[in-house]
This record gives sequence, structure tokens and C-alpha cells, in this order.
Amino acid sequence: MAARLALDKCAGAVHRAGLVPGHAGETRSNRYKGIRRMGRCKLVVGNWKMNGLLAQRDEVAAIGAVAADHSAVEVGLCVPATLIAAADAVKGAAFIGAQDCHMQASGAHTGCLSAAMLAEAGATWTIVGHSERRQDQSESNADVATKALAARAAGLKVILCVGESLDVRDDGDAEAVVSEQLIASLPQGAAADWLAIAYEPIWAIGTGRIPTMDAVATMHAALRAALASRIGAEAGGMRILYGGSMNGDNAAELMAIDDVDGGLVGGASLTAAKFAPVIAAAGDRMAAEA
Ligand code: PGA
Repeated sequence: MAARLALDKCAGAVHRAGLVPGHAGETRSNRYKGIRRMGRCKLVVGNWKMNGLLAQRDEVAAIGAVAADHSAVEVGLCVPATLIAAADAVKGAAFIGAQDCHMQASGAHTGCLSAAMLAEAGATWTIVGHSERRQDQSESNADVATKALAARAAGLKVILCVGESLDVRDDGDAEAVVSEQLIASLPQGAAADWLAIAYEPIWAIGTGRIPTMDAVATMHAALRAALASRIGAEAGGMRILYGGSMNGDNAAELMAIDDVDGGLVGGASLTAAKFAPVIAAAGDRMAAEA
């Protein structure tokens, strides 16, 4: 049902924005090297990380209500696995996602959760390859690609995270390094209807620091070009989210960047009061583009 709703939202966005491929309203600014901007409706997803007990169901419900007020935006919450079922029961117009899944469908993996388990609990999406897992659990690019395929096999949509360290940024190599990471993490059959990318500079996560808007624009354009080198025209429809200290103060500026198709939001998604302005910024941007 949530997936259906999401598709309907995107179809509406295409219609409203007049961004059907080849439509007369398509402008040079919504192309990158000939890649058409194919009705990418904004996707705004909260990542609760290891936060949230049953008492936070009220926040889930309140965020679901905010999502209903901004129906052109696809809004989701990736909650701890222990909260998926409870959140699913009160999610309103938001979707509920997981934060990781195992590479295998089942087996002797104590403490791990398969994509099918998460889907059965009520998740319709999952994050894979978050930098906190790449670092803390030593997940490789190949692991991330395999996890994305496992998620897809269980019917989950996927947000695949990439991003550079501060050293890489300071060395001036960020676009090349993150593009390479993206290509190496990309699953077979990557397509816009089940996969979104999140660019999350590691040094911006939870720090209150973000790159300059120019740096975000350059990175997102580079990532779309990298996607196009691998999946061709499909790259024009794939959402590339920005993540890392996105909040109500900076969301409007970030969402206005051509290749920024939404956000993956940590700290500012933990309450409806903080998350609502981010969702509203995405809605305002979609209205401005219509
Ligand atoms: P942050 O986290 O918004 O708290 O920086 C984002 C993320 O890690 O997904």
C-alpha cells in the first residue's frame, strides 16, 4: 500500500511538473549531460539510528500526519527494527523502513535480520551502506551491493549511502572517490523504481557542518554522471538524496539544488516538530518546480 502510494505521488509529480521526457517544459537546467530529469519527486527519509522506544510512537504518528499535509513528497522513517511493526501501525502517509538488512535470506547468523523479516514486520524500504555500518561493521562496497540485492529480492526498496571522509574532502578528491564508491556499491539491475542514492559526507553527519551548496551541487552532478556511465538513461530518474546535518534551517537551500532529490535526515527527524520544516521545504520546492 505504501509503495503504491509512493508511485502515485511520483506519477502526480511528473504530471504537475510537466517533466515527462521530451516535454516542452523541460529546460536545460534539468538535464545533466543529456540525462533527462524524469519526474523525480522529492524523497525525505528520517534515519532514527539507535534511537526510539515504543513511547516514540506518537512522534511517528505526528510525522505521518505531516506527510499527509505534503502529499507530493514521499516521506519515510527508517526506525530501529524493534519499532517497525509498531510504527507501521501508526505511520499515516509516511512509509516505514529499516536501517540495514543481512546479505543472506536466512541461516546461522545470530543477531541478524533478513530483508524478508523486515518486510514482514512492515518495512517497505531499507537503508544499506550507511557510513556508520561501513565503519563500525567493516562493510565493504561488495557487501553493500549484495545487501541491496537481498533487500530487493524481499520486495524492499533501497537507499544506498555513499560519502567521503574529511581527509578525502581536504585532499580535493571527493567527487572521484565517492563516484568510485558508488559504482562499486551499485547492485546489478539498479533502477530508479527500487533504488535511491544518499550522498552523506561522513564529516557532516551529526556535526552541524555541511558542505557549501556548490560542493553539494558538484557532487550530486558527478554522482548522476557516474550512475549514467553504469545504467544509462535510467540515471535521470534515480533520486540522489543529500544527508548530513540537514535540518529546517538548511533544507530549502539544499532541496533547491538541481540534482538534490530529497534528504536522509538523522537528528532532525527524531521529532515531528524538527522534521516538519524539512518535509515542508521539499514540498515547497516541488510546488516551485511545478
Ligand atoms: P544527521 O544524520 O542528519 O544527524 O547528520 C544523517 C544520517 O546519518 O543519515
